[in-house]
Amino acid sequence: MTTGVIGVFDSGVGGLSVLHHIRQTLPNERLIYVADSAHVPYGDKSAHYIEHRAITLTRFLIEQGADAIVIACNTATAAAAATLRSQFNLPIVGMEPAVKPAVAATKSGIVGVLATIGTLESARFAALLERYAGEVKIVTQGCPGLVEQVESGDLHGIRTRELIERYTTPLLARGADTLILGCTHYPFLSNLIRDVVGEHITLIDTGEAVARHLQRRLLSELPCRTAAQPDEFFYTSGDCAQATRTMSSLWGSTIEAQSLPSDFK
Ligand code: DGL
Repeated sequence: MTTGVIGVFDSGVGGLSVLHHIRQTLPNERLIYVADSAHVPYGDKSAHYIEHRAITLTRFLIEQGADAIVIACNTATAAAAATLRSQFNLPIVGMEPAVKPAVAATKSGIVGVLATIGTLESARFAALLERYAGEVKIVTQGCPGLVEQVESGDLHGIRTRELIERYTTPLLARGADTLILGCTHYPFLSNLIRDVVGEHITLIDTGEAVARHLQRRLLSELPCRTAAQPDEFFYTSGDCAQATRTMSSLWGSTIEAQSLPSDFK
């Protein structure tokens, strides 16, 4: 038997939307989460920059005992999942906009994707559309500024609402009846998005599917593993006081964010 820990990272606090599902699906696991808030947003950074951060954070998580990694970030998965898998020999679970379930859900035959520019311009996203879109028309919308609103903890304010209106209006005007939340920060805005777009629009998020996929990978690839004491640890490359406030609010209970050691910042 080996004892394992699950390491999870994102450009910031958005990946906590995935961590919630991981905690529900795997209640006995020890989870370590890193918010790379000193480098957020990833959405407008080069693939090379994100790859470098992803390698650094993965090294940190492995040093903390992680035997499986979740890239709780669509942008980092698009930029760095292949490189991480070639450099580290452990299960690495990534995530991408949920095109397949959205294509199955749409009745109008038009699906909108809200995501970062980095995700939408990636080769990985093009391959995803090639594979699953079929006859369904996919309309995309980059959402600069939305990640920053979540990072600052503004989930309900006027500026956040304005951005959501600006980004969803063109998609609805083109006939989308299903919207993919293609960035892990956006599920934290789903109440506001729902309020803006109305009840008749289907919102699709990937967090739960990622948690179930992780569970299957652990069972099949690490069958002799036992989880360490269930617990959660939170790190940030940014400001600890701010991360403690925002993460406690998004996690739903008081947590203390620790500073990522300087070698990994
Ligand atoms: N949460 C991220 C994603 O899923 C990254 C957003 C960003 O930092 O731009 O894409």
